[in-house]
Amino acid sequence: MPDDSTPDGSNVIVRSARSVRGVVRIPGDKSISHRYAMLAAIAEGTSRFQNFSAARDCASTLDCVGKLGCEWKRLEDEDGTIEVRGVGPRLKAPAEVLDCGNSGSTMRMLSGILAGQPFTSELCGDESLSRRPMARIMKPLSEMGAKISSSEGGRPPLKIQGGPLKAIHYKPEVASAQVKSCVLFAGLFADGETVVEEPIRTRDHGEIALRAFGAEVERTGNASRIVGGQRLRAIEAHVPGDLSSAAFFLCAAALFPGSQITLPGILMNPTRARLLDILVQMGLKVSVAHLEEHQGELVGTIEARGAAWKGAVIAGADTAALIDEIPVLAAVAPYSEGGLEVRDAKELRVKESDRIAAVAANLRKMGAEVEERPDGMRIPGGQHLHGAELDSFGDHRIAMAFAVAALRAEGETTILGADAAGVSYPSFFENLRSITSE
Ligand code: S3P
Repeated sequence: MPDDSTPDGSNVIVRSARSVRGVVRIPGDKSISHRYAMLAAIAEGTSRFQNFSAARDCASTLDCVGKLGCEWKRLEDEDGTIEVRGVGPRLKAPAEVLDCGNSGSTMRMLSGILAGQPFTSELCGDESLSRRPMARIMKPLSEMGAKISSSEGGRPPLKIQGGPLKAIHYKPEVASAQVKSCVLFAGLFADGETVVEEPIRTRDHGEIALRAFGAEVERTGNASRIVGGQRLRAIEAHVPGDLSSAAFFLCAAALFPGSQITLPGILMNPTRARLLDILVQMGLKVSVAHLEEHQGELVGTIEARGAAWKGAVIAGADTAALIDEIPVLAAVAPYSEGGLEVRDAKELRVKESDRIAAVAANLRKMGAEVEERPDGMRIPGGQHLHGAELDSFGDHRIAMAFAVAALRAEGETTILGADAAGVSYPSFFENLRSITSE
């Protein structure tokens, strides 16, 4: 797939490929990196993280914790190591607005910590983040005692006047790991036991990271509980490779029978690994070796081989478990035998872009038939796509998903705004190029 980028790297041309083969070292998991950076900031002592995510989103989190008085640095090594010097539970009042960039995770989860601080902070974001809903964290944090104001309709920027918090038993309406982590982080500063009872089990990196830093977090059924006032201690950890980033290469392998890829050191947390079940169900041959545990997170090496590519239906709890991977699964769905149906995915409309509309628009430009629904889509299988000029809509996962779809299209595809990929995966195009052959 040798590709040509515009000089500023903002547009990328992707040519069709014949097969996919090789080894890719996937950067550290974004969800875990955010949580490690935030908890390290309020821990006692210096934490060290190898393979910390290179994502622009995680740089936003580091920038914010820096403005809150926490020193951190990147070590000059090959392992992407960072050191974060914790300041304990009391952060420094920021002298300027905390810019969360494109990162909803930064804004939502950091708000939980800021709600418990004896000062006022302001958080802003880029154009995409400024459109995203924040009422989902404003509601529980206000119930806990923080004073929060926002732009109209619960959109950023946010102003948070923190202070002493009281514990709550919270039942979020939407299944969101960001909301769960936000409330549990606030629970560290609350008087009593805070409980988050989620409608559907979401990723549990918040709970696992809190335990790694020495806090007690209990899980019973769908409820996670934390008692306030616990002190965190610095840790050393190796961040597992991001399974949501690995998804692009797994889907690329699925497109070409006979392809073979190896992805070492990938996150295998069961709340994220539903992706592998779906891919296997769709026909990808997957094996996982060298399973290990790092700071409570499962890690393994994935070997995948392309074979037949069948269809699937993603609905209910599966939709929540696969929310970040649906764009790429949908982008390659026209090439499958049976197509893909996605239901219960209203949340996709309030991600970095409206991902249902973005997927449908790009697939149509490639000549595909797509049925767009308010909370999902249906994409028939057995279709032939052609290259086209596509838009990333400023969304990293849309840029990467369509680079993968372009590998099986006839002719070349231009992805406008492909530099959005850096939000989660700066070396994506380089890595994709390294495993594709024309
Ligand atoms: C994330 C949770 C999900 C996911 C996002 C990262 C996290 O968002 O889409 O990319 O790290 O907790 P929601 O909490 O909005 O579902």
